[in-house]
Amino acid sequence: MPAPSQAGPSQPAWTGTELAADPHVAADKADRVRRMFASIARSYDLNNRLHSFGRDQAWRRAAVRLAGVTPGDRVLDVACGTGDLTLAFADAGAKEALGADFTPEMLDLARHKAAATRHANAVRFEAADAMNLPYDDRTFDIVSIAFGIRNVHDPHRALRELRRVLRPGGRLIVLEFSRPANRVVRAVNDLYCRHVLPRTATFIARDRSGAYRYLPRSIETFLDPGDIRAAMISAGLVAPVTESLTFGVCAVTRAIRPAQQ
Ligand SMILES: C[S@@+](CC[C@H](N)C(=O)[O-])C[C@H]1O[C@@H](n2cnc3c(N)ncnc32)[C@H](O)[C@@H]1O
Repeated sequence: MPAPSQAGPSQPAWTGTELAADPHVAADKADRVRRMFASIARSYDLNNRLHSFGRDQAWRRAAVRLAGVTPGDRVLDVACGTGDLTLAFADAGAKEALGADFTPEMLDLARHKAAATRHANAVRFEAADAMNLPYDDRTFDIVSIAFGIRNVHDPHRALRELRRVLRPGGRLIVLEFSRPANRVVRAVNDLYCRHVLPRTATFIARDRSGAYRYLPRSIETFLDPGDIRAAMISAGLVAPVTESLTFGVCAVTRAIRPAQQ
């Protein structure tokens, strides 16, 4: 296991050796992840739009559709970042959408963005750690995590925590990158994610943290959608279903907290 990183905010969060192995096993993964997102926060949305060819908001809307929002729903969007999915839940008519994240720089941007929308009263953003949420058991009708479960220190523990705060019968939504099953699409996507995106996104973000070298490696070494469904079941959820998005570049999975628990 790599030694804890001593680097400051403008230093790389990862060495090449750590990324060549498995970034998920770093004992101080959470610190490194927080440092990365602090570094790239200001250009995070721009990089998302450009490097997904404008698809990232459609992926979030697919997540909201799968959640089946009804007007009285209280939503918790964990690892909310700059708040795009949180706001998409408000757009869909949720009564209350709470975004939670542990990187203050991302939360500041989310708050600014929300203030410019008609959802100022329905949406709020708070500092919270997905591994130890400051909310009571059985509080929310919908809990979501988009491009976040891959970044937490222990995804299995985080899923148990997400289930804990979900009310019985509530829906958990996990949106995450995946690797396309079609070999040609996968080869093109790998080429893009390994060799193009790290250069262009790093340039746009003027990033030194290595966030966009971590991104493809963290996807390649993370759970696939089948593993995520199995992890959701282990965490006490039932009936997981996955929708593949944009040739399998992304996948959204929904599971339910059983009514009896
Ligand atoms: C790739 S961004 C996703 C942001 C947003 N959900 C979206 O759809 O763009 C990942 C976010 O996860 C947050 N994060 C990572 N680990 C976390 C944890 N343990 N608790 C809370 N937030 C976490 C980071 O701060 C970052 O904002």
